[in-house]
Amino acid sequence: MRLQILASLLLYLDCSQADTLTNPALPGFHPDPTCIFVAELNNTFFCTTSTINWFPSLPIYASRDLVHWKLVTHAISRPEQLPIWNYNNRGSSGIYAPTLRYRDGTFIITCTHASQALPDANLTKWDNFILQTKDIYGEWDDPVHYYAPGIDPSPFWDDDGVAWITSTFNGSGVVHAPVNLTTGEVTLPYRWLWIGSGFVTPEAAHVYKKDGWYYTLLAQGGTRERHQVTMARSRNFLGPYEGAPNNPLLTAYNNTKSYFQAVGHVDLFQDAQDQWWAFEWPEGEFPIFTNVSGTITGDFKLPQPSGPETVPAEGNGQLVDADDDFDFAPGSQIPTHFLHWRPPITKNYRVSLEGHKNSLALRSSMLNLTGFDGDSTNGRGQTMITRRQSHTIFKFSAEIDWSALSRDSEETGITLFQDQSQHFEIGVIYRSSLEPRNLTAGSLYLLPPNDFGPIALTTGPLPAGPAKPYIRFGGIGITQYRLREQDTWIEKLTEMPEEWIGLKLRFQIEAVNTTHYSFSAGAAGRSDEGLRTFGYTEGRFIVPIFSGATVGAYATSSGRYGEGAFESYISRWKYTGIRQVIDQPDS
Ligand SMILES: *[C@@H]1O[C@H](CO)[C@@H](O)[C@H](O)[C@H]1NC(C)=O
Ligand SMILES: *[C@@H]1O[C@H](CO)[C@@H](O)[C@H](O)[C@H]1NC(C)=O
Ligand SMILES: *[C@@H]1O[C@H](CO)[C@@H](O)[C@H](O)[C@H]1NC(C)=O
Ligand SMILES: *[C@@H]1O[C@H](CO)[C@@H](O)[C@H](O)[C@H]1NC(C)=O
Ligand SMILES: *[C@@H]1O[C@H](CO)[C@@H](O)[C@H](O)[C@H]1NC(C)=O
Ligand SMILES: *[C@@H]1O[C@H](CO)[C@@H](O)[C@H](O)[C@H]1NC(C)=O
Ligand SMILES: *[C@@H]1O[C@H](CO)[C@@H](O)[C@H](O)[C@H]1NC(C)=O
Ligand SMILES: *[C@@H]1O[C@H](CO)[C@@H](O)[C@H](O)[C@H]1NC(C)=O
Ligand SMILES: *[C@@H]1O[C@H](CO)[C@@H](O)[C@H](O)[C@H]1NC(C)=O
Repeated sequence: MRLQILASLLLYLDCSQADTLTNPALPGFHPDPTCIFVAELNNTFFCTTSTINWFPSLPIYASRDLVHWKLVTHAISRPEQLPIWNYNNRGSSGIYAPTLRYRDGTFIITCTHASQALPDANLTKWDNFILQTKDIYGEWDDPVHYYAPGIDPSPFWDDDGVAWITSTFNGSGVVHAPVNLTTGEVTLPYRWLWIGSGFVTPEAAHVYKKDGWYYTLLAQGGTRERHQVTMARSRNFLGPYEGAPNNPLLTAYNNTKSYFQAVGHVDLFQDAQDQWWAFEWPEGEFPIFTNVSGTITGDFKLPQPSGPETVPAEGNGQLVDADDDFDFAPGSQIPTHFLHWRPPITKNYRVSLEGHKNSLALRSSMLNLTGFDGDSTNGRGQTMITRRQSHTIFKFSAEIDWSALSRDSEETGITLFQDQSQHFEIGVIYRSSLEPRNLTAGSLYLLPPNDFGPIALTTGPLPAGPAKPYIRFGGIGITQYRLREQDTWIEKLTEMPEEWIGLKLRFQIEAVNTTHYSFSAGAAGRSDEGLRTFGYTEGRFIVPIFSGATVGAYATSSGRYGEGAFESYISRWKYTGIRQVIDQPDS
């Protein structure tokens, strides 16, 4: 489970009283936060985060107190904004390392869309783009692409008003060049900014100016366990930049007791009281980062909203850690915090169809949730709709009408999904024989790199005989760390209990403690006591590479009968956050 934090502590304000901040600010799958403070919009803070392969992308969260965060919109909400996404792209591709900024009434995001399957020589492999809007609560413009080398772009305006853009170059340091943010024209060649403090993969640079110094802040060591925040500064914008004497300024690398780890890049912003968030920043000195923990008490003041609202009234989403209780009533919309793996085929998700009021109809896909890496929405995709796991301990359940299933391999249920190689399900499946199937066909790490020819979806002739329904608990947990270990995939089929045949079923995924998830099923409409547990999986099988865990519903025919072989109907979608664990259980 991955919890994303926003670390904070302030500076030299004369505070009579200490405040306490609770982390994480944006819980769950929210890597690489980038945040700004906009005084002109009622002193509101805005953040966005990396979304990798999920759609809609680049959620914009707003807060007036740094405690409550509301989803107000997504900067990428229309598949047409990034048609390149439809190329074969690996599960680890997608939207990486955004930077959010505000200048002269315009909001700007600079970002990279990665298509990991393309060869390095193809510049669209790292598609850098700029997004703008004047209305942060509404739709964003189409992106302006620029094909200059590097990734993780971040804009900075020097005192003369000229915009520059940084880029992580060749994995060996950070470069920058002037940019026209309207046209995307970058005035090459790049100039070197800083090569970092010597540790691997210096990236995701941001530039700030304070007290006559230009500072640059980098992520080094990758975004996972070895992640380190380093800084350098110069009196001259063009350098040379000199590293802080005590780099790294923040890391959980050699402090393995830190509960919050591997959360991605860092960014800094300043509030109405001139407090710098993410750390304390003495005048004329390098900043001192507060170590990140679940509760931070210190000599700082949390912002006091001038009105009663802790979040803006504008925007179409809910609080980042709000529960779900949805009936998909006629005329209602699919909630904006629901997610798809790559841009969706929208006709596969319909609310309250005639004859199926108060449900979400899922039209099945041929691809199952493992599918084949690199397969995308060129006519195919995984029929799946999820939301983030926002609490350490939670329950998620949905009722499913599975009456339209009848043929071997037809399957519908709910999933705990991190990516195509790490997901576990409980659902209904039809099978005509219990011969073991090849569960690892497809999947992220089993295909050779850059090998994305046409892939045959079907795997041999159908077994003979009539198919019967089973409760299926199964999944796969292959990561770079545990490639093909025998215990990382599982499929357990239980003959459908007689008394459940012909009924809608309720499925539930629950984090029972900090290490285990349970998967259960029962007749719809009953209480928890009526649910039977069919299996457990461990958090270590859902390890984020860049993203995080989600829960939701799916429908697939695993390679047979074409797209839309059947429909299933999802109702009473409930997610209940129970507890946020913010400290090491033994501390
Ligand atoms: C500030 O908040 C008030 C009250 O919620 C609202 O009427 C006004 O439009 C807001 N102003 C801006 C610039 O968002
Ligand atoms: C780069 O990849 C894109 C998408 O596959 C393709 O359309 C384009 O032709 C490629 N460009 C080069 C120079 O190979
Ligand atoms: C970038 O890296 C590639 C591969 O290591 C190398 O061939 C190329 O010369 C490098 N370019 C620069 C400008 O350092
Ligand atoms: C950016 O390019 C546009 C179109 O050529 C031009 O109108 C604008 O003045 C340029 N902006 C800057 C800051 O140079
Ligand atoms: C962490 O420990 C390793 C191994 O002892 C050491 O090489 C490295 O310098 C340490 N890094 C930090 C940031 O303390
Ligand atoms: C953060 O933790 C590290 C490792 O425990 C410690 O060396 C450092 O002094 C701490 N930083 C602050 C500002 O307390
Ligand atoms: C299962 O599928 C994988 C990937 O297609 C293949 O490498 C493997 O040989 C298959 N195993 C069996 C037992 O068919
Ligand atoms: C969590 O629950 C599972 C399943 O009941 C159990 O096997 C495991 O020991 C529990 N772990 C902890 C840390 O309590
Ligand atoms: C997923 O679908 C492929 C065919 O597209 C099939 O080979 C594989 O067995 C399926 N996996 C599961 C878990 O059903």
